[in-house]
Amino acid sequence: MFPTDRPRRLRRTPALREMVRETKLDPGDFIYPLFVRSGRGVKSEISAMPGNYHFSVDRLVEEVGEAIEDGVRSVILFGIPDHKDAVGTAAYDDGAPVQSAVRALHESYRDLTVVTDVCLCEYTDHGHCGVVRDGEVVNDDTLELLARTAVSQARAGANVIAPSDMMDGRVGAIRQALDEAGFESLPILSYAAKYASSFYGPFREAAGSAPQFGDRKAYQMDPANSDEALREVGLDLEEGADIVMVKPALSYLDVIRRVKDAFGVPVAAYNVSGEFSMVAAAAANGWIDRERIVLEILTSIKRAGADVILTYHAREAARLLR
Ligand code: PBG
Repeated sequence: MFPTDRPRRLRRTPALREMVRETKLDPGDFIYPLFVRSGRGVKSEISAMPGNYHFSVDRLVEEVGEAIEDGVRSVILFGIPDHKDAVGTAAYDDGAPVQSAVRALHESYRDLTVVTDVCLCEYTDHGHCGVVRDGEVVNDDTLELLARTAVSQARAGANVIAPSDMMDGRVGAIRQALDEAGFESLPILSYAAKYASSFYGPFREAAGSAPQFGDRKAYQMDPANSDEALREVGLDLEEGADIVMVKPALSYLDVIRRVKDAFGVPVAAYNVSGEFSMVAAAAANGWIDRERIVLEILTSIKRAGADVILTYHAREAARLLR
């Protein structure tokens, strides 16, 4: 009790504060999301996500080289296909931009971790994450296509497979297909508790993946639920997930904490496009101090229990931490 207890004693100098700091960010915590398309020499800015681009494979390799110099060690790739159809054929085409990018990145950077997102929404003409029949996304028929996508990415050399579709049973289906293809050592990072969130708006512009009818509420989670997040995470772990993700991050810090406490497994959090773009917009207006806000946001996500953070701020944050 005061005056014996004075918490301010340990806040007096930067060195003391650092000594007792509970949460420390490290560039090794980050996964940097990148968008890849076909062509050569392409680097075109995504208007809703300033500082993020659509890259052709050659320019992507340059960007990742610079990111590695900044301290980034992992990337996650999203594909922008040349053509979309009802069953997302370009997702499981061995010659598609993502698969080509994985091969090119590994040729250039031996120690880079390349994560690949498994989903159909960027590849379907209707923009949903699975096969559509009578206006509904059909769960079980979608699993086979997701598994095929994962195996195609594995063959290209992906280091981690990250399914983001929210179909029931997809982690098990992907695990089994990977094992049968000889990839039993390849880890799965599942988007286990993925919410039907408005914070994905800028990404859908970036990936051209907005659903052409309806919304994703029949497969992504209701933002009001957190017991259900534990159920989803439990199922994905039983099916073989190695890392489980909560997405988005900032409105779901309580969910991150519950998942970490309940399971004690590696937890990832996705600091999504809307979270990024709000910071970028406010900073561009001079309303906030971007550098300090970025580090505060990422620290709060880690403090909540995330071991891994997917963030469009990865490069700048890695630079700030040097
Ligand atoms: C694909 C996918 C989405 C995101 C990652 N993978 C979009 C969605 O579900 O609509 C969102 C990422 C972001 O907003 O940064 N299913």
